[in-house]
Amino acid sequence: MRILHVASEATGLVKTGGLADVVTGLTRAQHDAGDDVRVLLPAYPGCAQRADATVSHALGDPLGFGPARLLEGRIPGTSTPAWLVDAPSLYARDGGPYVGSDGHPYADNHLRFALLGRVGAILATAGPLLGWEPEVVHAHDWQAALAPATLRWWGGARPGTVTTIHNLRFQGRFDPAVVPEVGLPVEAYAVEGAEAYGSFCFLKAGLVYSDRITTVSPTYAEEIQSELGGEGLHGLLRHRKDALHGILNGIDESAWNPSDDPAIEAPFDAQRLTRRATNKRALQRELGLEPTDAPLLGVVSRLSDQKGIDLLLGALPRLLQAPLQVAVLGSGDPGLESTLRDLARAHPRRVGVFIGYDEGLSHRVFAGADMMCVPSRFEPCGLTQMYAMRYGALPVVRFTGGLADTVRDVSAGGCGFTFEDIDAGALGHAIERALHLYADRDAWTRLQLQAMRRSFGWDDAAKRYAEVYAAATAST
Ligand code: ADP
Ligand code: GLC
Repeated sequence: MRILHVASEATGLVKTGGLADVVTGLTRAQHDAGDDVRVLLPAYPGCAQRADATVSHALGDPLGFGPARLLEGRIPGTSTPAWLVDAPSLYARDGGPYVGSDGHPYADNHLRFALLGRVGAILATAGPLLGWEPEVVHAHDWQAALAPATLRWWGGARPGTVTTIHNLRFQGRFDPAVVPEVGLPVEAYAVEGAEAYGSFCFLKAGLVYSDRITTVSPTYAEEIQSELGGEGLHGLLRHRKDALHGILNGIDESAWNPSDDPAIEAPFDAQRLTRRATNKRALQRELGLEPTDAPLLGVVSRLSDQKGIDLLLGALPRLLQAPLQVAVLGSGDPGLESTLRDLARAHPRRVGVFIGYDEGLSHRVFAGADMMCVPSRFEPCGLTQMYAMRYGALPVVRFTGGLADTVRDVSAGGCGFTFEDIDAGALGHAIERALHLYADRDAWTRLQLQAMRRSFGWDDAAKRYAEVYAAATAST
């Protein structure tokens, strides 16, 4: 099938979170399965070089805010073709893909991602220009959502459209004054269109105007239809429930492979599990922790309200009365960053904190920690609990969203530790259960092997997406 993915991140080019891993992993699986896949992204600084891209087409001035060009290259480390929208006035910025170096979202994000969606719609219908026309346009999150919306408003012959919700909390809501600038007719700003609570909402446009909607786990697909998890859009999602599919993310098992991981000191697998000890020592050394056999609890996370790191901070004072080491890699909320730094200062050889983003260190945490903690308030899918299991670190997770779909408690025959209440005491109890089992080395090893045997590749998800694409094209 010919598939055009539109997204704001892809691992290898630009990554702030799991979306990037999913875009690169899913498209690689589709490409390997024989699909004709292309990914469209903004040409943020450095992307053209990383993609080894060259100029392919002039795009004129698609929204009237400056000329744009299309560059063509590949997602690094894959054979997946990547198209980059080169519009220096919108994308050539210091800072991240969404937020400037001052920590604030760019004031013109509505234009930056309206352009991405617009170019997606242009490419989807530009057969004569490109010699290629997709059968399906797959938009990821609000940043890409105007691609399907624009196609619907243009009418006429068009590909099937799918919008995937990676995180309903982020909707791309803007002042309605932006409507004339984003390339949709003003009639799209309506209750039955892109209006949400007095704002113009990019994601809602995608959800209303796409043929199919997916989200990244079956449980999250249920949760977002309730008032509690629906972030104000549960009514719409319930209304579209027949078009809504929960497809569990996979992980890229070649990029996350403990037996062949250049980022870790001692590659290992189920037959060479004892080599994990070398990785634990290396991690302890890297983070300035005492080289002991005490259990080591790891965290690799954005530091935001979603991730429940405050619950861990609430549980740790009591837990640290027993022999326990903690390794945290994360960045985000300045308050959480400074509380974590304080904790590390208070327990210098037992709590190691690295504030920042470091892909290599993240691999070393999964390879060296005994358990990984993911205490999220909500979690559409979550990838780190799957990386943890693949690397033989047992997950301690709140039972929500994709965490509930991937981690089963040891008491139910699984290899993880789950808790339900959004509460430091409940998390602390789950960690204590893990510590208790850790003391039984044989039982722990059996659980590690059980975790490492699990399969989290993309094949199943890729098949499910193919079914959704077929349904989307059938309804155009
Ligand atoms: P989310 O997308 O909500 O942040 P996921 O679990 O889906 O959560 O994906 C997070 C991704 O980002 C994982 O690949 C994880 O390893 C990575 N990650 C998060 N924080 C960091 C960090 N500080 N350094 C390196 N990688 C990180
Ligand atoms: C979002 C979600 C996360 C999910 C990721 C990839 O960032 O917060 O749960 O794993 O997208 O789909």
